[in-house]
Amino acid sequence: MTTNHIASSASRLRCISCGATPDSVGQDFRCSNCGDLLEFVFPNRGFDPAELKSLWLNRKTSFKPLDQSGVWRFRELLPLISEAHAITLREGNTPLYQLPRCARLTGLDHLHAKHQGMNPTASFKDTGMTFAASSAKQGGFRWVACASTGNTSASMAAYAARGNMHSLVLIPEGKISWGKLSQSLDYGALTCQLRTDFDGCVRILNELVRQKPVYLLNSVNPYRIEGQKTAAIELLEQLGWEPPDHIIVPGGNLGNSSAIGKALLEMQELKLISRLPKLSIIQAHGANSFYRSVREFGGTKLEPMTADTMATAIRIGNPASWKKALRVLRATGGEVEQVTELEIAEAKAEIGADGIGCEPASAVTLAGLKKLRQCGFVKPGETVILILTGHLLKDPDFTIKFHRGDLFAGTPYENDSARARLLQRAPVVLDADLGAVIAALDAAERNS
Ligand code: F0G
Repeated sequence: MTTNHIASSASRLRCISCGATPDSVGQDFRCSNCGDLLEFVFPNRGFDPAELKSLWLNRKTSFKPLDQSGVWRFRELLPLISEAHAITLREGNTPLYQLPRCARLTGLDHLHAKHQGMNPTASFKDTGMTFAASSAKQGGFRWVACASTGNTSASMAAYAARGNMHSLVLIPEGKISWGKLSQSLDYGALTCQLRTDFDGCVRILNELVRQKPVYLLNSVNPYRIEGQKTAAIELLEQLGWEPPDHIIVPGGNLGNSSAIGKALLEMQELKLISRLPKLSIIQAHGANSFYRSVREFGGTKLEPMTADTMATAIRIGNPASWKKALRVLRATGGEVEQVTELEIAEAKAEIGADGIGCEPASAVTLAGLKKLRQCGFVKPGETVILILTGHLLKDPDFTIKFHRGDLFAGTPYENDSARARLLQRAPVVLDADLGAVIAALDAAERNS
């Protein structure tokens, strides 16, 4: 195994289980002692919080590419990567939107969406990818690779292309949306559709990196987690450094929740914020191994499962970062919830009706929030942020089937979707006739 990834002097890699602190790691990014995941730690980091905040704010007026990136703008809290190797598409800088209709629906006064789907390749993956792809460049790699449910691969392919590297994508055949697949093709990746699921793709990739000099860009790569931390830093800046009460994220492979939680803990330690928001994680019922780990086994173990959900981005049965996610769930006092396919579809249309929209996996946040309101974990006066992870246009197939009423055909939800029917807006096919259009308009007005 080669040893190519040297942690910078300001940061160290540490194993999350045995605490070993290697100076270099192999291409699988696993601890050579115990095989668990590694994370970056920053010993002796001392900043004046007010100075940091004003430095970051001042960079917003700069025209330098790294200052214009919503990830590299916060580079003081990241491991060192030389500017010469940085690959940026001006990622981050994503909007924080109010969700007035969804707020009314859930009985809240302050409900916002941090829309990570507004990144360059339309998902949150870009914030981690800019940083990890740059570390591949710094390591001198020709090839980068990932297993993916579609968004990581789209993002990796784009950043590899920008950095003049080749990319290898392993995706489960037939189980990713066309939008995502089309991205990795156009960005020039070698795209392999394997006859297995995401977890099967991960197994093959882990073997591959032991044999070939390819750089692994899944979220077991701790540089990915570091880049993804910046979504939470940017969020707190947008809130004037006043922490919200709750942040709610979808849970798939559990890298994103780990990253956001890590950022919250670091910001508290550095006195950038005075208290911790509760970070809650929502999974699809058919891909709920982390939910079951927490609820059934008290977090003592995670039983892998064969995952199934129409929210294909989170169709994952053996989440790599579950121990990291468990730690931040506990440290922030968050909750874990699961939601059904119908609840996901309804929540997606409700987020859409606020003029925002997102892909199915992101909508688990609103569906989960409804449950957290019902059980009293989230209270009416509290401020809640939903992290929307992917753009509406990532998976138009799902959206069109939902609005045409076809999504649940042949499923147990077929006759159980009165609320869904209320949300559906099927396209109206008419003759090219003014009278027909006016009749449709009048009918819509009467029903509104
Ligand atoms: N939302 C979207 C849109 C995603 O694409 C993913 C993961 C998640 C949520 C879950 O995030 O894995 O960090 O817990 N997509 C990966 C991929 C697995 O390959 O694109 P997570």
